[in-house]
Amino acid sequence: MMINSVLFVCLGNICRSPTAEAIFREKARRRGLSVIADSAGTAGWHLGKAPYEPMQTTAAEFGYDLSPLRARQVVQKDFSNFDLIIAMDQQNLLDLKTLTLRANTAHLRLMGAYISAGSPPDIPDPYYTRDFVGALKIIEQAIGNMLSAQWPK
Ligand code: 4NP
Repeated sequence: MMINSVLFVCLGNICRSPTAEAIFREKARRRGLSVIADSAGTAGWHLGKAPYEPMQTTAAEFGYDLSPLRARQVVQKDFSNFDLIIAMDQQNLLDLKTLTLRANTAHLRLMGAYISAGSPPDIPDPYYTRDFVGALKIIEQAIGNMLSAQWPK
C-alpha cells in the first residue's frame, strides 16, 4: 500500500498529535521522504490555538518546533483526503469511527500498533499525566518504527 499522506489524531490537537506531526515531518525529511503530514483533534475545544505551552517547550528541547502549528478538528473530508489516519489512543479510534459517516478510503490505525502489534498501548495524554517528556519519547519511538514499516529503505 502506497502511503502519501498521514493525519495524526488525538483529543485536543494541542499535545500528542501536533508532537507526532512535527516528529514525523522531521524524520521523513531526514530520510528524503515527501509524505504530507497533518494533525487534528476529535474535539474542537482549542480551534486555532498553538500547541500547549509545556508541550512546545519539551518538544523544543528535543529539537522539534511546534510553534507554527494550529489546532483544528477532524472533518469528514479527512477520511478521503488522507491515506492513513493514526489515532493516539483507543478512545480517539472509537471517536473517529463514530465521526466517519460515509465509506472512506483512509486506513485507520492506532499509533500503539507501531510499538506492539499484539496489544497496542495507548499514547498517554500528557495534558493529564503531566509527563511531557515520556509522551514525546513514546511518540518518537512509534514514529521511528512507523517509518521503517511503511517506508522501508
Ligand atoms: P491532546 O491532549 O489530546 O494530546 O491534545 C489534551 C489536550 C487538551 C484537553 C484534553 C487532552 N482538554 O481537555 O482541553
